[in-house]
Amino acid sequence: MTGKRVLLIVGGGIAAYKALELTRLLRKAGVAVRPILTKAGAEFVTALSLSALAEDKVYGELFSLTDEAEMGHIELSRSADLVVVAPATADLIAKAAHGLAGDLASTTLLATDKPVLMAPAMNVRMWLHPATRRNIETLKTDGVLFVGPDEGAMACGEFGPGRLVEPPVIFEAIMDALRGPAARPLAGRHALVTAGPTFEPIDPVRGITNRSSGRQGYAIAGALARLGARVTLVSGPVALPTPLGVDRIDVETAREMLAACQAALPADVGVFVAAVADWRIDEVFGAKLKKEKGGPPALTFVENPDILAALAASGPQRPKLVIGFAAETNDVEAHARAKLARKGCDWIIANDVTEPGVMGGDENAVLLISRDKTERWTRAAKDSVARDLAQRIAQDLTASPS
Ligand code: CTP
Repeated sequence: MTGKRVLLIVGGGIAAYKALELTRLLRKAGVAVRPILTKAGAEFVTALSLSALAEDKVYGELFSLTDEAEMGHIELSRSADLVVVAPATADLIAKAAHGLAGDLASTTLLATDKPVLMAPAMNVRMWLHPATRRNIETLKTDGVLFVGPDEGAMACGEFGPGRLVEPPVIFEAIMDALRGPAARPLAGRHALVTAGPTFEPIDPVRGITNRSSGRQGYAIAGALARLGARVTLVSGPVALPTPLGVDRIDVETAREMLAACQAALPADVGVFVAAVADWRIDEVFGAKLKKEKGGPPALTFVENPDILAALAASGPQRPKLVIGFAAETNDVEAHARAKLARKGCDWIIANDVTEPGVMGGDENAVLLISRDKTERWTRAAKDSVARDLAQRIAQDLTASPS
């Protein structure tokens, strides 16, 4: 990245201090940083800190005679490979969406011909306000890239989406943006991912579920989004945060999962990682079962729809690439290959769940089984398996037209 240049606009929010750490990370990677500090931004961090870390002059005034004499604001807006706004406040976002140009930051955003990446940060209500929603949509349509926001506790004491993502995450998004389209081979593609367990109710308070953590599916959804795909993640109940840039639809039962998947079509790729319950209770009890009522209840089960098989047989709507997962305890390859044929999918990612640390753990040792070959991947962290699989999906899809 040496020789690459970022124009960093620091907006006025409590998270502005994170822009200092971001500047440090960029400089460490050899990226030149030229900061613009808004008036509001200067209420939170000083030009001196920013300038020292950036090893460059900090710009702030639109009507500064010296700045204009050294480098005009139009030239400034074109002087970088990428314009980054971090934190991107509701005010800066609104100005950019409406093409206002009343100060140096907004003028730069209007005048630039370079890609723009925004890392929003604001109070949850401001983030969810219809005006901000509209502005974000406008900017997305204009081609502005976004990273975040995160969800969590805020400096203002509220909780929800609106936190600035951590500097290393913004840094990675900047690296991707600087690498250009090659880093986003799945741009313009839609990926559908299922993850987690399903929950099949018995009565209003009880149900049948399994121990799937959802980790592998969530990692895959995140990895696909990082390669530029629009990702719909249909998730059973799990305790995991939504990966950045992923649209998540929460469901409970297998039938809800199937309906959400069908509603999400068309998709270019479907990755079915969920541990779907094979069976559900035939008739769910309308009221809580009482133990006094004559011994244990007799539960009758009926088979759930097979989501993977249904989507693999969805005719013209069928994703070009349909991928299933298989957790096996013995004869892994033979069982997985039989599953590939039975379910009509293109690849099966098979893993031996008797391997210590796989079920519910952080690692996975998988086989990628396609119709004509088997690849044995070395044991690796679930995140790394997800990245490798996303790359393989990108290779496969880019070999075929969108
Ligand atoms: N799957 C699905 N819908 C179901 C059951 C499974 O989409 N109702 C998907 C899973 O997400 C996974 C693959 O099918 O991608 C493997 O599921 P598995 O439960 O192992 O398949 P079964 O046909 O139930 O095989 P087994 O005999 O091993 O239980």
